Amino acid sequence: MKTTTLIFFLALGFLLTACIPDRADVQAQYYTPDELRTLQARLKLPAQVDEYSFDFIKVSNAKATLGRVLFYDKQLSHNNSVSCASCHKQDAAFSDTRAKSVGFNGQETKRNSIPLAASANFITSYGGGGSLAFTNNPHSPPGRPLTLGFLWDERARSIQEQSILAITDPLEMGMAIADLSVKLSREPHYSILFRKAYGDERITPERITEALQEFLHGIVSVNSKFDRNLQMHGRSPDVDFSGFSSLENSGKAIYMLHCSHCHGIDMTTPVMRVANNGLDLVSEDKGVGGITNKASDMGLFKVPFLRNVALTAPYMHDGRFNTLEEVVEHYNSGVKMHPNLHPLLHDPAQPNTPKRLHLNTTDKAALVAFLHTLTDDSTIRHSRFSDPFK
Ligand code: HEC
Ligand code: HEC
Repeated sequence: MKTTTLIFFLALGFLLTACIPDRADVQAQYYTPDELRTLQARLKLPAQVDEYSFDFIKVSNAKATLGRVLFYDKQLSHNNSVSCASCHKQDAAFSDTRAKSVGFNGQETKRNSIPLAASANFITSYGGGGSLAFTNNPHSPPGRPLTLGFLWDERARSIQEQSILAITDPLEMGMAIADLSVKLSREPHYSILFRKAYGDERITPERITEALQEFLHGIVSVNSKFDRNLQMHGRSPDVDFSGFSSLENSGKAIYMLHCSHCHGIDMTTPVMRVANNGLDLVSEDKGVGGITNKASDMGLFKVPFLRNVALTAPYMHDGRFNTLEEVVEHYNSGVKMHPNLHPLLHDPAQPNTPKRLHLNTTDKAALVAFLHTLTDDSTIRHSRFSDPFK
């Protein structure tokens, strides 16, 4: 066959397939070509919607996609200067590298930002709704609901509630929630994203915060070296892991002995909601006590998940420690006898004395090495969690 004839047949074939619309293909298109053009004028969104569900965490992909755009949109703040992501950065496992974050008017927040890649999904889907373990917490009075709360003092019951607080907070985003719906309705891409998520274009505070919540539920981080080894060893954290170095294994043993009763044995199931871990003799920030006004709640703070902890410096509610070494030294030798210091941090032999761990240099390095095995790099790299704005 001559080359020209070949080209002719190839071209004919191409024309024929191009002219007959493939029904299945048309239906599989998530956005219409028009919608995609509008979206992609401003956003780096894929033509097919990203998958956010995982395991038994069921997430609406359309709502999470909308939530992702909202999370990175600076229009959520009064003067269009900060987005949620300004204080919850993906490469820091959705925390901030500053001890105090900077809000829309340049003022600092009162506390250290909390990493999000470890909170939403586990609290609401794994441990949420009140695990029985909480009933053993001496700091959980019977009247308090057994669900975990959000923020360092647990004052928000859900991410939706927390999102309203962040958007309207006079230091964080300073935005009147009702005005936000009007502001966002001027953006053509939101008409499409709200319609995909909710069936019509109506923008309401309820929908904005629900979409943010769906996005945060989709941020699942379960692929650390620790997770993979735990899986390989029948989910038993007490045996030495074959994939761990001997330093990491000895750090794991120290963690299971001294830390797991508060921070959990698998970094997934929360075991203790709030506690005082002896940072100060007197708490400047009252924590839970600032909400409940009870003497027994003063200086109590949320026990944070330690997933990705090597990425989330600085540490504690006020970001006072810059490194994991400093954190380990605190538990080793620095715990203060706060009136509400948790009993687990008391010296069992002497009343009214904080516990000392007497870790040597190798032990401390081992504990830090173990904490590094909790890093899940996929969370900080996945494009479905990244900034979609061009
Ligand atoms: C100016 C910085 C800033 C902005 C903007 C911001 N946050 Fe935060 N975020 C923080 C700080 C600081 C905390 C801890 C505050 C506290 O406990 O009092 C926090 C805590 C949280 C928590 C609690 C996590 C947990 O496990 O308890 C969630 C969820 C959260 N933010 C989501 C968001 C969302 C969604 C947005 C956007 C609507 C947002 N944040 C905007 C700084 C910020
Ligand atoms: C009695 C419960 C308890 C024990 C035991 C405990 N912690 Fe904590 N931990 C807490 C609380 C509560 C906080 C938050 C305190 C605050 O910010 O005021 C915290 C905070 C941390 C943080 C900071 C995390 C962040 O995102 O800022 C790290 C890291 C940490 N603990 C590691 C450890 C290690 C390692 C051990 C064992 C040596 C340990 N903890 C033992 C309750 C405990």
